[in-house]
Amino acid sequence: MNTVSVEILDGLHYIGTNDRETSLFENMWPLPEGVAYNSYMIIDEKTALLDTVKITKVDGFIDALKDKLNGRDLDYLVIHHMEPDHSGCYKTVIDLFPNVTLVGNKKARGMVKDFLDLDVENFLEVKDGDVLDLGRRKLTFVNTPMVHWPESMVSYEMTDKILFSQDIFGGFGALNGTIFDDEMNFEFFQDEMRRYYSNIVGKYSKQAAKALEKVKTLDINIICPVHGVVWRTNPERIIEEYVKYANQIHEDGVVIAYGSMYGNTEKMADILARFLAEEGVKNVKVFDVSKTHESYILSEIWKYKGFILGSCTYNNSVYPKMNQLLYTLKMNKLANHAVGVFGSYGWNGGSVRELTEFISDGGSFDVIPTIVETKGTPKKEDVDSLRQMAKEMAELIKEK
Ligand code: FEO
Repeated sequence: MNTVSVEILDGLHYIGTNDRETSLFENMWPLPEGVAYNSYMIIDEKTALLDTVKITKVDGFIDALKDKLNGRDLDYLVIHHMEPDHSGCYKTVIDLFPNVTLVGNKKARGMVKDFLDLDVENFLEVKDGDVLDLGRRKLTFVNTPMVHWPESMVSYEMTDKILFSQDIFGGFGALNGTIFDDEMNFEFFQDEMRRYYSNIVGKYSKQAAKALEKVKTLDINIICPVHGVVWRTNPERIIEEYVKYANQIHEDGVVIAYGSMYGNTEKMADILARFLAEEGVKNVKVFDVSKTHESYILSEIWKYKGFILGSCTYNNSVYPKMNQLLYTLKMNKLANHAVGVFGSYGWNGGSVRELTEFISDGGSFDVIPTIVETKGTPKKEDVDSLRQMAKEMAELIKEK
């Protein structure tokens, strides 16, 4: 099994697994680069395991855990987050170490019963600020509700100033030998970090921003998340990145996402993209919603200040694949974007009406006034209107 075990500091070990087998995270989000599940082991006067990994990786994980314990018993299992990619091995760990005390907040205690059908007697319920004394190392707890689940919490190791941050500061992508931030090229992981954030945590950005405010009060040397690399050299880098994500601070650029059956809406998208380039927008990304999974489109929209949606009409309505994207965008509570819409129809309209409804109630947007709707192929007046749209979008994102 591909469990990786690395010493972070004396008495603190990374025990993680790479998952390149699962196609879809939460059975929804493509994982072309895989994903890593990280847990951590503290060996002190007491022993503590912080989170586990997905059950599919249990064999190698248990071998690594026993190796680190070297014959000692496991005293504590700290629950930062109950989602099964981290709680998957709890039952096995409890079976092997029946004296272990689970440590978590009140909500986590309920979830141990709900998700694992376990009545655990040895459960230490902790609140914000409580301290777990392991000997040289001491953990204090900070609740971070809804980042990602209600029971989510982080812990802070006070001696070496280490934050165990659960899903916060995580990302998609298996760790290809690079466990630490100083061993990897940040840009290599950046897109998969943002795709992870926008799709998994994006909806809870207000709670994430609050959690980051709490975290920023801590003096942090090392960040140990449950996905992605361990930040031992430049933790400020990932904190800055997450502050941008959570507060929806976007970069200059425009995403165009379109759905097209016969090429008319696609043609409009290409004309618009060219006009945006002529207006000086240097980052223009165009996506066909039939080809690109919405998780990638959402991630790019999370990155850039502007987005424009185009749809053909299907059964007097918006194109079904565009509808899926609209659902995803609406669910994730987008904010601080400049937005425009366009579309086409053959005999009766419908798509532009629904796109217009989306931009009026689908998020907190600055809407560009020009909307372009063509019957069949775009004509000269439609092309002129697309030029006008591009001008309005370029001006709006310059102001933002
Ligand atoms: Fe990685 Fe919300 O679990």
